[in-house]
Amino acid sequence: MSNQVKYQLEESEMPTAWYNVQADFATPLPPVIHPGTGQPIGPEALAPLFPMDIIMQEASVGPYAERFIDIPEEVYEIYRLWRPTPLLRARRLEKALDTPAHIYYKYEGVSPVGSHKPNTAVPQAYYNKLAGTKRLATETGAGQWGSAVAFASAFFGLEAKVYMVNISYQQKPYRRMLMESYGASIVASPSKDTAAGRKFLEQDPNHTGSLGIAISEALEDTVTTPDTKYSIGSVFNHVLMHQTVIGEEALKQMEKAGEFPDVVIGCVGGGSNFGGIALPFVRGKLKEDKTTRIVAVEPTAAPSLTKGIYTYDFGDTAQMTPLVKMYTLGSAFIPAPIHAGGLRYHAMAPIICKLYNEGVIEAVAVKQNPVFAAAVQFARTEGIIPAPESSHAIRVAIDEALKAKESGEKKVILFNLSGHGHFDMAGYQMYFAGKLEDYEYPVEEVEKAVAGLPKVAA
Ligand SMILES: Cc1ncc(COP(=O)(O)O)c(C=O)c1O
Repeated sequence: MSNQVKYQLEESEMPTAWYNVQADFATPLPPVIHPGTGQPIGPEALAPLFPMDIIMQEASVGPYAERFIDIPEEVYEIYRLWRPTPLLRARRLEKALDTPAHIYYKYEGVSPVGSHKPNTAVPQAYYNKLAGTKRLATETGAGQWGSAVAFASAFFGLEAKVYMVNISYQQKPYRRMLMESYGASIVASPSKDTAAGRKFLEQDPNHTGSLGIAISEALEDTVTTPDTKYSIGSVFNHVLMHQTVIGEEALKQMEKAGEFPDVVIGCVGGGSNFGGIALPFVRGKLKEDKTTRIVAVEPTAAPSLTKGIYTYDFGDTAQMTPLVKMYTLGSAFIPAPIHAGGLRYHAMAPIICKLYNEGVIEAVAVKQNPVFAAAVQFARTEGIIPAPESSHAIRVAIDEALKAKESGEKKVILFNLSGHGHFDMAGYQMYFAGKLEDYEYPVEEVEKAVAGLPKVAA
């Protein structure tokens, strides 16, 4: 069919394994360091937080050192509620842009909670259930991750407690109600429920919160509550691995479309949806002779890759986590209140950082007004109201298509549409009212923040 729009896979064609990119790295990831001893930590240090299967996936050891890791049957059965997700050709957008480029997008918003996040929430809940965990604690920025944990916990009979960044809690009451409908308990972060939260509330009773603070609260909750483990929505290696189901499907779907992307684009907060779409294409660069450009898109308000420094930092604001080598703006970073709540993190997944440092992937930062302009153009041509986070990828896909128009090249562009924006209409309203500010994080602030970090010899 010459004007085909959707490239679907049958359920029977769904990939049966996740891709473990660590197996293809020429050199291992930099070690995770204990802040007290300055020495690499072993798996036992993570045991209070995660079940052993997850820890071994994180470290890529034992049965989890392979390139491909079988998706457990119980997880596969739940994935089938919405997977395989569609790959679409944005023909109307192409026409509106009058570009010779072909634009494809993988749509993860068809999951029950509206984003890619359940791709990892489900296996995390599964491995916890296997290990006897009764309760999960987690944080959420925009509410997408909390929704995924609430959903996955309901399927495996686990309790869920979600620390939701205060500004999102205020902006998105329906997200909170959605999580409650799945049976989870939600609290605005900083909260009175943890010592870390109380400390930030003392400094400012109306604290807008940050992902770093919410992570500190969820971690404290985990280690102080019996039968509780921690569930994380991004950044960690195992999370990115679970998300590779996106890119593995996309590879098969692009083949059905008879094309291969010249450019693969994803937005980055902690790096999970980007890792999900991109890592199977990274494999083509690392192991085959592919020259695909792979572009991570971040907000100028939280530009960890484009302005951050590649050094050891904590994963949270209260400095409870081990030290990890990442591009970071400093763990004390409190981001400007942009509407892409899920992109307001101070650092980035170590896997993405390593690939960026080695020049395998590129990064670009964009401002929120042009991002919303792209979102609106997409909604009016393709029909889907995209999440503000995902719209960062749309902005750059459109920019690439416009460049192709200028040069007259028939580029093939693939981007990940990580979620829909049905709970983000307040952001759209502010955009239409001309009330959105464009924030640019000053590079001097990064230098100051990073100067205070512990020095690691590695
Ligand atoms: C729809 C959507 N896309 C992207 C992100 C960013 O996270 P990540 O970089 O882990 O994909 C979020 C985070 O909340 C999100 O909700």
